[in-house]
Amino acid sequence: MTNQPDRIIIFDTTLRDGEQSPGATLNKEEKLTIARQLARLGVDVIEAGFPFASPGDFEAVQGIAEQVGTPDGPTICGLARATKGDIKSAGDALAPAAHKRIHTFIATSDIHLKHKLRKSREEVLAIAPEMVAYAKTFTDDVEFSPEDAARSDPEFMYQVLEAVIDAGATTVNIPDTVGYTTPGEFGALIRGIVENVRNIDQAVISVHGHNDLGLAVANFLEAVKHGARQLECTINGIGERAGNAALEELVMALHVRRQYYNPFLGRPVESDAPLTGINTREIYKTSRLVSNLTGMFVQPNKAIVGANAFAHESGIHQDGVLKNRMTYEIMDAQSIGLTDNQIVLGKHSGRNAFKTRLKELGFELSETELNKAFLKFKTFADQKKEITDWDLESIVNDQIQQP
Ligand code: KIV
Ligand code: ZN
Repeated sequence: MTNQPDRIIIFDTTLRDGEQSPGATLNKEEKLTIARQLARLGVDVIEAGFPFASPGDFEAVQGIAEQVGTPDGPTICGLARATKGDIKSAGDALAPAAHKRIHTFIATSDIHLKHKLRKSREEVLAIAPEMVAYAKTFTDDVEFSPEDAARSDPEFMYQVLEAVIDAGATTVNIPDTVGYTTPGEFGALIRGIVENVRNIDQAVISVHGHNDLGLAVANFLEAVKHGARQLECTINGIGERAGNAALEELVMALHVRRQYYNPFLGRPVESDAPLTGINTREIYKTSRLVSNLTGMFVQPNKAIVGANAFAHESGIHQDGVLKNRMTYEIMDAQSIGLTDNQIVLGKHSGRNAFKTRLKELGFELSETELNKAFLKFKTFADQKKEITDWDLESIVNDQIQQP
């Protein structure tokens, strides 16, 4: 294949699809804070929002394009339906970014065509390449998604993909919009695209999926085996309904099982090279930051970032781990940014230990905020022997919210 990356591209959509979680609305400053942390995490593309959706989202995408879209920073992307108004709005908002991408989409499943778009297949086949060509007038980097791809007639989808690639799409993203597919089916769908779309070597195959059946991550890993090279995901798996594929789960699966996935990138099996550009040590911090700013709680048993993900309760497990961590741990807590010898905070802890732990939890406070939070912490610590991370987060949230 030509035009193919030599590692898996991580496309983060926490600020677009993730923000579509009920109740997870973020303001411009919050989006900027998360975007800066996503850049530190090392994501390749940040989908910063849907500029046409509201003036607030336009400004947030523009702000991220200006401040995070630096020449050595990530590509900043904006979503647009396949209409000139949406595409122009995305192009304008993204203008300040050094690397910018417009992501345009239109549904290809008959159920969406009939009931939502009220358009024929011929109409969709004409609109999609026309809008990709229009998006190309703003940037060379254009992504196209046939929405509800997993429930579309593959033959029709192949035709649409060929047309958009001819029109200049550089990434074709295959969404499982309703979280309906299964790993075997999704892998076969990607294989079908590789084998049947005439010009597929001119575009990167991306996947996007929802977790309605809890299968999004498994579907993506199967897609990687069959040729997908970009994964669209969110921190903590937040997103529409049951959410999107979780970035931390995908990245750590590719990290821990890289021997298994390496052959599909054409690298030697024994190669130790990471399969993504993610700095995994920033994962925990990013997870806490997104949870705090969106108000979306992370379940304790959540893979990788849940409070219990590295906790051992049973005596047999504790005994094994004390003898050798590898008995019951497949990855090192430090690899996601948790510190091994965690300082236990209590009433004797100083300001520096307090500040350091907050940093690990993803809080960047101003001096005034820190002082206020530290006073509250000391009062709290007089009443409680040990202060947990949850206590710290509620102390900081209370202080930041107060005038
Ligand atoms: O789930 C979906 O189909 C989407 C598209 C806009 C890619 O979010
Ligand atoms: Zn989606």
